[in-house]
Amino acid sequence: MERKKILVTGGAGYIGSHAVVELYNGGYQPIILDDFSNSQESVLTGIKDILGVEIPCHHVDCTNESALHEVFEQEQNIQGVIHFAAFKAVGESVQKPLKYYHNNLDSLLVLLKVMGEFHVQNLVFSSSCTVYGIPDHLPVTEETPTKPATSPYGNTKKICEDILTDVVKATGSELRTILLRYFNPIGAHESAKIGELPLGVPQNLIPFVTQTAAGIREKLTIFGDTYDTPDGTNIRDYVHVVDLAKAHVVAVERLLKGKEAIVEVFNVGTGRGNSVLEVVHAFEKATGKKLNYTIGPPRPGDVPAIYADVTKSVNELGFKTTSTLEEALASAWKWQLHLQEVSSHAS
Ligand code: WQD
Repeated sequence: MERKKILVTGGAGYIGSHAVVELYNGGYQPIILDDFSNSQESVLTGIKDILGVEIPCHHVDCTNESALHEVFEQEQNIQGVIHFAAFKAVGESVQKPLKYYHNNLDSLLVLLKVMGEFHVQNLVFSSSCTVYGIPDHLPVTEETPTKPATSPYGNTKKICEDILTDVVKATGSELRTILLRYFNPIGAHESAKIGELPLGVPQNLIPFVTQTAAGIREKLTIFGDTYDTPDGTNIRDYVHVVDLAKAHVVAVERLLKGKEAIVEVFNVGTGRGNSVLEVVHAFEKATGKKLNYTIGPPRPGDVPAIYADVTKSVNELGFKTTSTLEEALASAWKWQLHLQEVSSHAS
């Protein structure tokens, strides 16, 4: 049976590349579109090593309407799109808000215009739990009120959700879209051929943990231990990136089944909250590596605690994560070792 084509914008990125693998495993034909402004071409080799086939890739900036139009023209019969292409560094978004508003909003607006011209109805949008801000109650459900964003990055996710909702509600809309609100993606494919490629000093916890364990960083600083949580450190819902990728395939399948205009929102998390200290100890247990860490001041803008209520995803989307925190952390460590190996061969 011919594979249905699914365009994956940002398909050479961390989550995008894992989604490409799971789409192919699920019987689809992923088509990568990426401008490589925040990803590397080596990811394409990693995907090919895993799948044994080369995935078509268009080196295109999603904000470039004529180039995007050309891709839809050339690829003919795209059945759906997963839109990952966006900048995602919270701190950088505070320093360079226009860069984030331009890229993250214009890429969606251009994509929606071109999808409309080619009558491509189905869109899975990469959103984030950051739209919940600091929640009043935990765990958060999809009905938990969204809060004013704590960063321009978070605001672009909220605005994109509003754009998609308004487009679906417009008269005569053909758009069918699912907004996936990710919690904290971690880990890497079991093959260690693809994973998170942090550029420079990692801002996120897990790459900093693995680089500390690898001796690249001298020690991990835990940002505060005086929060109102059992051990005083922040709580998050850490979801294995492969589980997260699989959720996108389930969302694509759900969209392809129908025709009417629709917008649905689903949390994608494990439904479990873990503190930073619990993550550190789980990493040490999963890898046998002792982690050198110190407690530092809280990081401005950090949400004290957030984790997902996944009832709706389980009951309506039919999706549930399967990996444990230890498995995800072990995969992150295996990927770090792979990166060391590659860099030692390169030098
Ligand atoms: C996790 C926890 C830190 C680094 C962000 C974005 C979110 C999504 C994921 C894009 C926090 C603590 C971290 C360190 C630490 N990004 N920490 N020492 O902030 O929950 O979410 O990344 O989609 O939108 O907001 O992730 O990994 O930065 O932090 O103690 O060196 O680890 O305080 O509690 P965060 P994170």
